[in-house]
Amino acid sequence: MEKIDVVVLGAGAAGMMCAIEAGKRGRRVVLLDHAERVGKKILISGGGRCNFTNIHCRPENFLSENPHFAKSALARFTPSDMIAMVERHGIRYHEKTLGQLFCDRSAHDIITMLERECAEASVRIILGAIAISVHRNDHLEVHTSDTVFQSESVVIATGGLSIPKMGATAFGYTLAEQFGLRVVECRPGLVPLVFSAENREQWCDLAGVSAEVVARSGTRPRRGNFREKMLITHRGLSGPAILQASSYWSPGETVTLDLAPDLKVLAPLLAKNSRRDAAAAMNAVRAVLPARMAERWVALHNPDDWTNASLAALEQRLHQWRLLPAGTEGYAKAEVTVGGVDTAELDAKTMQSRKVPGLYFVGEVVDVTGWLGGYNFQWAWASGVSAGESA
Ligand code: FDA
Repeated sequence: MEKIDVVVLGAGAAGMMCAIEAGKRGRRVVLLDHAERVGKKILISGGGRCNFTNIHCRPENFLSENPHFAKSALARFTPSDMIAMVERHGIRYHEKTLGQLFCDRSAHDIITMLERECAEASVRIILGAIAISVHRNDHLEVHTSDTVFQSESVVIATGGLSIPKMGATAFGYTLAEQFGLRVVECRPGLVPLVFSAENREQWCDLAGVSAEVVARSGTRPRRGNFREKMLITHRGLSGPAILQASSYWSPGETVTLDLAPDLKVLAPLLAKNSRRDAAAAMNAVRAVLPARMAERWVALHNPDDWTNASLAALEQRLHQWRLLPAGTEGYAKAEVTVGGVDTAELDAKTMQSRKVPGLYFVGEVVDVTGWLGGYNFQWAWASGVSAGESA
């Protein structure tokens, strides 16, 4: 049995940042992961360029049973702090869209930066070691596949359930429950939606067609409206607008799409002496949607007549196209896990368990889920720093 100050389980974004912060305080830190290398999700993130933060990051960009919980950590370590770190390491980056910052070169740059910071903070990294269990005696005891650590602080940074083939495990959730901590039910987030059989028949031959839409899940007002691209896939819908809405979606709910935000598409048909028929409607819709999608949409929604009332109803349907998805593509395709360790169990400033002194939870394993666009990494960095300042 080895005695150590802090054991961090999981060498992803949150665990590495936590280990660095604790190490900088002079704590003896072991950072452990069952993978053969650190930060595997960082490497594949942002299409290999890692969307490492978002300059517009605010607590409103996160889902949680307690929408206030993330405020403290997000204020402790802000996007500016992350940018300062990235710049200290000479990493070049750019804003792609909507405040999303990506590496110019590669996500490898972020990994190299974190590894260097770990080395400077004397963090000992152990790879290929599976976290098996944590017990509490006088101290906390961590059992791994190789050894046992006795430690004052144990930080659980084992992430969520998304992409199991990359090594995601339910370890953090199971451990929380073992210590009597409540876990908010998990579901895949930032995930493509699967059409009903009828919609699949109607639309999937158009796979690859995309359009800018405003997407919203369900009918509750506090959920976001996401104006971004939507993509038709071989099984349903994807693209940023759909991924964003999916995090708010529950089975049995509809998804509403505005296919022509801010536009009165059929107005030309209402003008005096103008043509009113399917061809005229198609022409008008083609001006705002890709041709094949416009044609299909009008063919499926053709009214019986072309009165003003029918045109108004058609216009409204364009702005409120309601679909009832059959499901999602699941954790295999999800970028994140919604739900997780109940924030009521944790101290918002330190991420420490209220019931189990010395036990911390950071990153995706906690019931805080960001929107698409660099928010999830910002949460991982910020929650990691908060715990690292205390553990
Ligand atoms: P993370 O999952 O990164 O790390 C957990 C670690 O724990 C892993 O290294 C795992 O191997 C280890 N582990 C698990 N169980 C273990 C056990 N029993 N024993 C030992 N080790 C164990 N976000 C963003 O902001 N910008 C982006 O560009 C992207 N892009 C993106 C693309 C794709 C394809 C995915 C799947 C996800 C994203 N994300 C993202 C989301 C982001 O990657 C995610 O939110 C963070 O990586 C979460 O960081 P954590 O450190 O909490 O978990």
